[in-house]
Amino acid sequence: MSRFFLTTPLYYVNARPHLGHAYSTIVADTVVRFRQQLGENASFLTGTDEHGQKIQRAAEAAGITPQQFADANAARFREEWDRLGLRYSYFIRTSEARHAAAVAAVFRRMQANGHIYKGEYSGAYCVHDELYVEGQPGDVCPTCGRPTEKLTEENYYFRLSAFQQPLLKLYEEQPEFIRPESRRNEVLAFVQAGLRDLSISRTSIRWGIPVPGDEKHVFYVWLDALCGYLTGIGYGSELPADRQRFQDLWPAWHLVGKEIVRFHAVYWPAFLMAAGLPLPRGIIAHGWLLFEEEKMSKSRGNVVRAEPIRRVLGSDALRYFLLREISFGQDGSFSYDSLVSRYNSDLANDWGNLASRTLNMIHRYFGGKIPYPAAGVAWLHGDLEIMRLAEQARDELRQAFDQHHFARGLESVWQLIAGLNRYLVDQEPWALAEKNDSGSRSRLATVLHIAAEGLRFIAVLLASVLPGSANRLWTQLGLEGDAAQRIDGLTWGKIPVDQAIAPIEPLFPRLEKAVAIEQLRRLETESEAAASSGQAAAGQSAAAASAPPADATAPTPAAVMDKAATAVPPAAASAPTANAPAAAAAGTQAAAGASGSAARIAIDDFAKVDMRVGEVKTAERIPGATKLLKLTVDIGTETRQIVAGIAEAYTPFDLVGKKVVIVANLEPRKLRGVESNGMIVAASDPATGKPTLVSVPAETPNGARLR
Ligand code: MSP
Repeated sequence: MSRFFLTTPLYYVNARPHLGHAYSTIVADTVVRFRQQLGENASFLTGTDEHGQKIQRAAEAAGITPQQFADANAARFREEWDRLGLRYSYFIRTSEARHAAAVAAVFRRMQANGHIYKGEYSGAYCVHDELYVEGQPGDVCPTCGRPTEKLTEENYYFRLSAFQQPLLKLYEEQPEFIRPESRRNEVLAFVQAGLRDLSISRTSIRWGIPVPGDEKHVFYVWLDALCGYLTGIGYGSELPADRQRFQDLWPAWHLVGKEIVRFHAVYWPAFLMAAGLPLPRGIIAHGWLLFEEEKMSKSRGNVVRAEPIRRVLGSDALRYFLLREISFGQDGSFSYDSLVSRYNSDLANDWGNLASRTLNMIHRYFGGKIPYPAAGVAWLHGDLEIMRLAEQARDELRQAFDQHHFARGLESVWQLIAGLNRYLVDQEPWALAEKNDSGSRSRLATVLHIAAEGLRFIAVLLASVLPGSANRLWTQLGLEGDAAQRIDGLTWGKIPVDQAIAPIEPLFPRLEKAVAIEQLRRLETESEAAASSGQAAAGQSAAAASAPPADATAPTPAAVMDKAATAVPPAAASAPTANAPAAAAAGTQAAAGASGSAARIAIDDFAKVDMRVGEVKTAERIPGATKLLKLTVDIGTETRQIVAGIAEAYTPFDLVGKKVVIVANLEPRKLRGVESNGMIVAASDPATGKPTLVSVPAETPNGARLR
């Protein structure tokens, strides 16, 4: 059986996962499910990239160790993928011991092959991208636009320059090594312009994997992280089962966002060549998810999370939207408005209605058994057209998905869905059912058989993108197994005779758009507030990350969705809402636990936190955000705008004139699009998560520092 092994990027653990990370992982999950439907032994690896300056600093700011910080956020990524039903087979964390051993092994091989030397380097370094850049320290990084810092180090160097020709040969011999074409051209131009040797160790960073034999150096985080693709499937282990797995799976395909193509298409193959290891099969690059015209990212403060969407619309709807709306390889915009529109038009109206109409008529007219056309029946033009559309959808989807043109493949299936909806309107089975002659009865059987067979095709074709809904339809059709049947074996006319269908439930109940968007916004605000109330206690990501999934007890997406539409829509939000304080409370407890058991910090570490007394000058609610208040706070030297997640405990009226304590030297961030320049310090009730502001007597001057 042919094997297909795919990887997602290993995500940085400096923040919680957002929709951009979910996009890559959802694409990987879809590709793997699709390959499995072609009979391949397909699997994927994901994981977290945990070393480096960025994470070291984030942990310092949170007052915990990098390992604690990484543990907490890695768990969040894993939980997120589990909740979304993403079936990764391997999850690698680069802070695992097995990984350190494997990186050292790769390095030794590179060294033994003469591709490593020692030298000194001083230059402009971008901490965010973990990259030396051209220009002077202080100049902005050409990739992310942040100011660079000066770094002087004695480093181990990798002779990247020696790999220019081998790399160019690779791209020439394997034109599909980098997809799509546009990315390939960028890489070609970069390599043709000449390659400089690459520093692959750092002495300025403590949080990393030590270079064997010279432990004051740690490995450059990209060398470390890329090797995770090997370790995650057993490289470096002595166990026969691990060695076998590595043999079976490697080389991989790498799915990446366009900004990290260079690391994967240039450095990584060069590292592997130097170590004498087999090269990846290829790099598949996707574009960015944009929100309000900008790349969705933590630093821009414009992230959307998957969790509220999963709760209100279900994870299938999110998958469908991302694959249908974004032309793979290009950037695409996300908005709740278009998400809910697509849900209503494509899923509820087109597909959901087709399924419920067809199944209801089979219940009503044939006692719940899928009818079969009489032997030798003469097909009419309309019947043949459906068969043609079904086979066309199968062939086009297969071809399109093979080239990662997911939107195009889905469009073909929707042509079949639209064709079937038209067919029912044209054939009027409900009118045939009113007539009592045997000709009409036989025609009715043919029409509903064709519709049911069409539904079977649709379920199989959509199983990789909408696995939950395709399976529910499959079950309703009464078919055995699940919808993830072989696509290459999908042929018309295979529904068993006298197939009994199961009770019907709507696949995608229609949603009131405004209500759904309101629910999404409310859940989003609550989840951000839960995360930042964790921040108030012990550092944002760690505290929030150690909370259990907010909806550990929440209904399945399907149940939430059904409730949303069939009962009172706000009820859908109230179930998860009820859980949100639990998340905040758990976050706080974890934080309280952390203060008991977390590593102690030096007074210097505490001194880094600039806490000041301030006076609230104005306070107002943020429209649509139930927990947030926008405050202006006078801290003596200036007046700051701060967004605080305290609206459920304090009204604006309670706050104006009140003395509060703020953390003044936090990076500004945006909450619901409103910039927050600092943080109000509050105690969080361990049971309810309710915040209580820390205050000082009225005579304490504004700007007084807490030490
Ligand atoms: N740790 C490195 C990757 C090391 S791989 C050995 C890294 N991590 S990351 O957390 O920044 O994740 C980057 C990846 O997340 C992108 O390449 C992409 O796959 C995904 N995305 C993050 N934001 C995204 C968007 N706004 N849009 C689409 N994908 C995005 O880079």
